[in-house]
Amino acid sequence: MKYELVVVGPLETNCYLVYDEETRECAVIDPGADPEKIVAAIADLELKPVIVLNTHGHVDHIGANSDIVRKYAVPLAMHTADTGMLKVSDYIELSLLLGARNSPAPDRLLAEGDEIAVGRTSLRVIHTPGHTPGSIGFVYGGVLFSGDTLFCGGVGRTDLPGGSWKDLERSIRERILTLPEETVVLPGHGPWTTVEQERSSNPFLT
Ligand SMILES: [Fe+2]
Repeated sequence: MKYELVVVGPLETNCYLVYDEETRECAVIDPGADPEKIVAAIADLELKPVIVLNTHGHVDHIGANSDIVRKYAVPLAMHTADTGMLKVSDYIELSLLLGARNSPAPDRLLAEGDEIAVGRTSLRVIHTPGHTPGSIGFVYGGVLFSGDTLFCGGVGRTDLPGGSWKDLERSIRERILTLPEETVVLPGHGPWTTVEQERSSNPFLT
């Protein structure tokens, strides 16, 4: 499996295309904005989307779900606990800024331990509540797509509705820092990092 990063929207959300190099099947993680940019990257790499995945339900991660799901006629999957966040009218100013559209309802509800097939391999779901109740990460090989749970040198904010610092800290310590230390962490915003680097130097965790 390989991945391609497409940075979308004014909040610079990291949308990832995770794909099987041979079959070219791909999962689209967090199409938050700029659908035309995501579509262009998919075309450039000659990928065949098979599913859209959301790490959580915030509007800057789901704003282009509708465009991508319709264009490729693929299912949408996210955690049950964030399905109440998919109407952009709930955050109208930010949604206008992002050009976000209402997301369709998910076709598949994800939970801890689920496997999502992409080409010849699969992504494993880890449930990491805290930033939102339904925040999840996707793991394959030595890579974690962490959403807004853990960043390079930072952690997700917990002051938005449904956020919990206690849950976030537990998720990071028990579900992420327990992964192999060389695991590459690909967050929902900003640069990549590793489990080892965050365990040793993240100011929110040391
Ligand atoms: Fe978020």
